[in-house]
Amino acid sequence: MTRAFSMFDLIGKQDEERPYFETGGVGRSHEFYTGEEQFRREMERIYHRRWLPVDHVSRFKEKGCYATLDIGTGSILIIHGDNGIQAYHNYCRHRGYRLVEEAVGKRQSIVCLYHCWVYDRNGALKSLNGTYFDHFFDKAKNGLLPIRTEIRHGIIFVAFSDEAPDLDASLGEFGQFAQAYELETLECVQAKDYPVASNWKLVAHNVNESLHFPTAHKDLHRITDFDDAGTYELKGDIVGAWQVIRDGFNSVSMTGHSQRAPMPQVPEADRRKINWITILPNLLFGFTADYVMMQWVWPESPGTCVVRHFWLFHPSETAKSDFSHEAVFALWDKANYEDWELCERTHRGLSNPMWSPGQLSLDEEVVSQIDAWVAGQTEEDAR
Ligand code: FES
Ligand SMILES: [Fe+2]
Repeated sequence: MTRAFSMFDLIGKQDEERPYFETGGVGRSHEFYTGEEQFRREMERIYHRRWLPVDHVSRFKEKGCYATLDIGTGSILIIHGDNGIQAYHNYCRHRGYRLVEEAVGKRQSIVCLYHCWVYDRNGALKSLNGTYFDHFFDKAKNGLLPIRTEIRHGIIFVAFSDEAPDLDASLGEFGQFAQAYELETLECVQAKDYPVASNWKLVAHNVNESLHFPTAHKDLHRITDFDDAGTYELKGDIVGAWQVIRDGFNSVSMTGHSQRAPMPQVPEADRRKINWITILPNLLFGFTADYVMMQWVWPESPGTCVVRHFWLFHPSETAKSDFSHEAVFALWDKANYEDWELCERTHRGLSNPMWSPGQLSLDEEVVSQIDAWVAGQTEEDAR
């Protein structure tokens, strides 16, 4: 069969005619998925050390637009100030009160509700509102604490450590996908957070494989073919796979159809595919020709996490008076709840200390790639 040319053909792929089961690897130990010590190492060596993707620029168009995000037990505030988008620790410099609780919004100043210190949109402390005599106190030394912030392809990244490995090297070949799907210019039209009672890696596994589509997602299975799929071999700290949309459908949505034009730079051969690309550790992209999803898994404890899901569309479509993303959201919101049930029950299953790791198929290769990457970052002598 002759395949249409895809720019992603330049990226290594497995043979599509591969055997269903071969050597996709095996799962890992009870301790790896549920242990306190493993979790502590993941926070220290991955989440508190590396560049982390945290948001998309389309949510910060105007000055004062902000979002908050919990990472482990900490919280960050991302805000568009006078010098661009910047992240800060989301606590007051006075006594540590958590400043902003809302997930998203717009404000030009941030008032601490404990003793009324006031910060501006640049993180500068502007007023103590009578808690001190201003002339005895150096406000310049008591602004919000900034966090290293960078933007690539419209994604906002933060790093808590000065020793974070190089961001561009980590992103490797991700830019090819970002450019084809014009990630930088897309509009986030919906965001939703989902609490999940599961280890974060089990959720990362779940959202990176489609082997469970026939049993778990009848709507998705109707439109996408879990068996016409394969894995990319990508350079950088990224993993990925592709999956074909069945004949007769042109959009991965509850109806399977859309009037939205395919994004112009998406290669012809990829207009009937989902390209699933994960920036490790925790951000999965679902690139389709008429929309893009960003889905984070944020660890909270060994047995809990929060999934933050964005749906992004091309501005030429969102500008139309009849634009609607309801059919897309309806499909994925339902599929998400189906997935969290699977993840939570899997977590409960392998919480048994007598859990014995099982065999993975080649269709689950990304599952073992994620585990291998996390293990490599967190092994005793990994630093
Ligand atoms: S803790 Fe914020 S003003 Fe006191
Ligand atoms: Fe799923």
